[in-house]
Amino acid sequence: MKVLVIGSGAREHALVRSLTEDPAVDAVVAAPGNAGMDASVLCRAVDVMDPDQVAALATELAADLVVIGPEAPLVAGVADTLRVRGVPCFGPSRAAAQLEGSKAFAKEVMASAEVPTAMARVCTTLDEVDDALASFGAPHVVKDDGLAAGKGVVVTDDRQAALDHAAVCLARSDGRVVVEEYLDGPEVSLFCITDGRTVVPLVPAQDFKRVGEGDAGPNTGGMGAYSPLPWAPKDLVDEIVARVAQPTVDEMARRGTPFSGVLYCGLALTSRGIRVVEFNVRFGDPELQVVLARLVSPLSSLLLAAENGTLDALPPLRWRDSAAVTVVVAAENYPGTPRTGDPVGGLDEAGEVDGAWVLHAGTRRDAVGQVVSAGGRVLSVVGTGADLDAARDRAYAAVDRIDLSGSHHRRDIAARAAKGEISAG
Ligand code: AMP
Ligand code: GLY
Repeated sequence: MKVLVIGSGAREHALVRSLTEDPAVDAVVAAPGNAGMDASVLCRAVDVMDPDQVAALATELAADLVVIGPEAPLVAGVADTLRVRGVPCFGPSRAAAQLEGSKAFAKEVMASAEVPTAMARVCTTLDEVDDALASFGAPHVVKDDGLAAGKGVVVTDDRQAALDHAAVCLARSDGRVVVEEYLDGPEVSLFCITDGRTVVPLVPAQDFKRVGEGDAGPNTGGMGAYSPLPWAPKDLVDEIVARVAQPTVDEMARRGTPFSGVLYCGLALTSRGIRVVEFNVRFGDPELQVVLARLVSPLSSLLLAAENGTLDALPPLRWRDSAAVTVVVAAENYPGTPRTGDPVGGLDEAGEVDGAWVLHAGTRRDAVGQVVSAGGRVLSVVGTGADLDAARDRAYAAVDRIDLSGSHHRRDIAARAAKGEISAG
């Protein structure tokens, strides 16, 4: 089969890597892709936000499956257009993608489905925000209602900073913010593949959202991830499916907007039990990089079964017992406006580290074919090993061979988990 992967990040590079290793897949095309993907597969230019362009490309290529990586095209209805034109695709409809497109909508669905989440108030004025901040107390959590590429959330003890963030969000047309109670405890990302009925969970991973070591500084799209979580309770995945994913999938079906694709459950394991922090309607980046590093089963049959409604007939997924760690190499000034256009050196040397590989995110080739930085998160370097310590060693050995002027990365990805310093709830 031929698969078209839509997107240009390390998440999509990870999808391309797994699909090219899948015996059932004859050809993979990425659009628009990046300098890493174009080393192994054909990359085609496309405006991922234009449903007609994506559908025309899929038809021209005679793609048997289109996998849509990022949330924005899903929220814009690209999956709907593909399906109308008879192109099978992995990813939810525009209506179902509202689970990520609007945090207020997600809260409403969770309330109907009795899914445990933070108490929250949707506010449209600063007075309402002020009231909500007072009633929940510090630390304050203020979220832009709409899509914000992982940067719409402010968690702070500083009430004025919380109000300032709310003011910026409210100033946009249709501005709405969600003010929430603060959730303590470690976070978990669990990707649940669903065809609208059956839910198949992948293995859990943990993401590092803050830019700085020790979780200092502002939120980012994610600076690193690891899997497995040695500290997680044994029944965690079953509990998340039973209390979160299945009730949400059932509620979406009941509403006449069935959800197919991946429901990314972002949770906090609090002292009072699991709570949903957020839903996303696509794979997490960088968590997917470590989850796929552990997947043994062919990826294409899993994604296709979600589209065909046959997940109940899929053989159980097989996983490697080994560990995977990914470290994001970010451009100078990320998560602010990143510096771009710098040569990225050491890629071959990094790829030579045993059990490690380099996935590209914001990269492109310049006029002479040199790989240069082209975004905030530039690379996602993956290391695998028998345990988290071994995987960390390999990931950092590879990161240390990368040469990108002004770049930064966290040195503490998976460090506390490897030392046994994390406890759940
Ligand atoms: P979101 O975009 O909703 O995923 O939020 C981004 C990040 O902000 C999360 O991964 C958490 O680290 C943090 N966050 C969001 N909501 C809360 C909350 N209610 N309590 C504590 N931290 C939160
Ligand atoms: N790593 C977080 C996200 O993909 O939203």
